[in-house]
Amino acid sequence: MATEKEIVVSGIRPTGYLHLGNYFGAIRNYIRMQEEFNCYFFVADWHSLTTHPDPKDLPGNVMRVLAENIASGLDPEKVALYVQSDVPEIAELYLLMNTLAYIGELEKVPTFKDKVRLQPQNVNAGLLTYPVLMAVDILIQRASKVPVGKDQGQHLEMARNFAQRFNNRYGNLFPEPEAFNYGDSLVRIASLDGEGKMSKSENEMATIYLSDEDDKIIKKIKKAKTDSATGIVGSPMPESVQNLIELMKLVSTADVVDFYTKAWDDQTIRFGDMKGQLAEDMVKFVAPIREKAKDLQENKDYLQKIMKAGAEKARARASETLSEAKKLIGIKYY
Ligand code: TRP
Repeated sequence: MATEKEIVVSGIRPTGYLHLGNYFGAIRNYIRMQEEFNCYFFVADWHSLTTHPDPKDLPGNVMRVLAENIASGLDPEKVALYVQSDVPEIAELYLLMNTLAYIGELEKVPTFKDKVRLQPQNVNAGLLTYPVLMAVDILIQRASKVPVGKDQGQHLEMARNFAQRFNNRYGNLFPEPEAFNYGDSLVRIASLDGEGKMSKSENEMATIYLSDEDDKIIKKIKKAKTDSATGIVGSPMPESVQNLIELMKLVSTADVVDFYTKAWDDQTIRFGDMKGQLAEDMVKFVAPIREKAKDLQENKDYLQKIMKAGAEKARARASETLSEAKKLIGIKYY
């Protein structure tokens, strides 16, 4: 008998434009995982409602996120690629799971506390129960692996707690999901101005988006922060230069990386040349993804077909889980 592949679930927020940090932090892992696991990747549109996005932006944002992920190499033939709200079973299990989630523990979640601080005018119940919905996204597929960064650690722990609580009260149904990342994968892409990392909404000029046109990419890299050469052979490489080298490691050849590392070491470095080279390699990397994503977004029929097929696959497994859950809870009458 063929051993079943392990199940992976991950959710993508449909906010902002995808950038290099998303690509190298998340999408690249998805692409690797799709070969090894049974993957369920979805756009978390219900989650996004907790911050009240403009209804006229949402469909475009969802389509763009799908298009950018496919353009980056996610293969809808290999993974179930769907939109959360196309799987109503999630909403039903969420309702059931809410009775096992305690207000006290939800109020203590750091991401909730942040939101209370940042948007005191909109502390809605959906924000409070965000971790319940996220747990259900995962548990409804009975997934064992979830590729997420550190910032989602607390949410994942809660998913394990809810799984355990359900299993203890009603009977064994849910595996306890673990965070999963390839060893080398938690790269942090520094922003071009040296202030923190590339971000979806802040400092646009310091972030390279997968949708940036060539001239935009070139302009952003030209403006990137560099400390001037010290003239002293062997001086330690400043962070700003290290950041550019890190970007080169992702998009340039090993020769180029070596050349500019040495050029710093012997202080013959010319930052204009270095940035020119990086800009050229970055354009080569981003342009095909951008153009493919553009084509896909113009082909709405195709994207809708993908969404439907993904939802069908997600619903098949979700409805089995939901049906089991209802049986165990005692609300299955037929
Ligand atoms: N909370 C996740 C984020 O902010 C998105 C998300 C929603 C998710 N549901 C999920 C991630 C389920 C993994 C699994 O990025």
